[in-house]
Amino acid sequence: MAVTVQVPATTANMGPGFDSLGCAFALYNRFTFELADVTSVHGCDDEFKGEDNLALVAFRETCVYAGVTVPFVKLTISADIPVSSGLGSSASLLVGGAMGANRLLNLNLSKDDIFRITSRLEGHPDNIAPAVYGGLTAALTDESGESYVVSYPISKVWSFCAFTNTDLRISTREARAVLPKAVSRADAVFNSTHVALLPAVLMYGDVKLLPVALQDKLHEPYRTPLIADYKPLCSAAKEAGAHAFFLSGSGPTCMAIYTDSAFFEKMQNAVQTLSSKWNVLSLAIDREGVTQIG
Ligand code: HSE
Repeated sequence: MAVTVQVPATTANMGPGFDSLGCAFALYNRFTFELADVTSVHGCDDEFKGEDNLALVAFRETCVYAGVTVPFVKLTISADIPVSSGLGSSASLLVGGAMGANRLLNLNLSKDDIFRITSRLEGHPDNIAPAVYGGLTAALTDESGESYVVSYPISKVWSFCAFTNTDLRISTREARAVLPKAVSRADAVFNSTHVALLPAVLMYGDVKLLPVALQDKLHEPYRTPLIADYKPLCSAAKEAGAHAFFLSGSGPTCMAIYTDSAFFEKMQNAVQTLSSKWNVLSLAIDREGVTQIG
């Protein structure tokens, strides 16, 4: 018997929502698990075929959580989410592995269990939350290590566009290393005041307030210098009518939020003038999160 689950791509760190605000999109990784005589991984580069594949790590952890013996499995991955790009590929592996174990072994775990197991493994829940529940989420991990999440309905006025660059890979570890250990009170207040507005602005479709609310001083100033084209890309997006432009997760993917239907085509032309190769992806919101599809 085989089980297939699909997990959406996610953006995290939306504007001032560092380590908290995330959103899921209709671009998927699919994971098929079947019981086997020996554990193996297929459908990915050799470097990801070991026991440390994050989907296998989460599969094993879920078995431990549920108190069952870890079986040998054949895992086949079909991935549309680019690796180390800032679109939640690691979170998708963890969530896919946990949900795969749940369904293959009939563990009867809830999405809240999947969220708890995988947030612990990831260490920060901002990509995990939308990957599990879909849509727009705010999440946190408290000092005891427990994670919490709320989901917000997101207005249908917004369109999202991702700018991906397969020539650039930034690991979360590298991108966290460039962040300062402490920030000024002014920057902390800047982010806390802006993030207080942002979920309501996204929920109500407030076009005037979005560019005000979606600004950050905790991570983007330190990380955008790692991306050579960030400034011209951001300027081109604003000129083409983006209401907001931000780093997706820890980058290099950048994201724009827009409402003008001409925006996408304008940006497809604009990226041709940049020094490296950017792909422009129009992304619909995924409102389901992880689901079993087979
Ligand atoms: N919140 C995380 C970070 C997202 O910015 O480091 C990347 O996985």
